Amino acid sequence: MNKRILVINGSTRENGNTDAILKAFMKGVTDGGFNVREAVLRDLTINNCIGCCKCQKEQKCNFQDDMTELRDMVMKSNILVFASPIYWCEVTGLMKTFIDRLYFFHHKENNHLIAGKKALIITTLGEKDANYESQVLVEFYKRCMHSLGIEILNMHSYPDLMEKDAITKKPEYTEAACNVGRKLSGAV
Ligand SMILES: Cc1cc2nc3c(=O)[nH]c(=O)nc-3n(C[C@H](O)[C@H](O)[C@H](O)COP(=O)(O)O)c2cc1C
Repeated sequence: MNKRILVINGSTRENGNTDAILKAFMKGVTDGGFNVREAVLRDLTINNCIGCCKCQKEQKCNFQDDMTELRDMVMKSNILVFASPIYWCEVTGLMKTFIDRLYFFHHKENNHLIAGKKALIITTLGEKDANYESQVLVEFYKRCMHSLGIEILNMHSYPDLMEKDAITKKPEYTEAACNVGRKLSGAV
């Protein structure tokens, strides 16, 4: 079956490490014939959730911004790829804002629109010890996905990428990311 994959890119840096990893990952996915789209959050207008809870009371969000189309893309996708650098033990503010706005799907009337989907987590980070650095982030993703009814397929971390161009010295990372994409789409 031709599955739809939505990549959500939460990096703040254009042409940085996350962009390079995702480029390789998406090549792997398309090699397998899957339909992949990327939402680059830094290029979109996504307001901070203001906690009005209109989405819980009226099943619609207070804002008409790029999240309207993005929610539609989320609903039409089978696999969601959450990709973010680690910022202070967590995802970037861009990714956090995006996930906050998924609160719409937390309501029992809307949850069926997202529940049962699969997620893949991709993380880039500056420090070498990925296990230690990503403890908080791993727990965060697990709890959010559990609350939304989304199953995490796997989590992939790419450590030791502090500088913007650090990825250029790690060809094994882009190769690995490409293989993750190929495996996901059944190409290998
Ligand atoms: C504000 C900020 C906070 C960061 N916090 C962490 C951290 O807690 N742990 C870590 O390993 N790297 C941390 N980093 C490094 C980034 O995760 C790393 O540079 C990553 O590769 C950036 O991805 P990008 O090139 O796509 O922007 C931080 C970077 C910034 C700018």
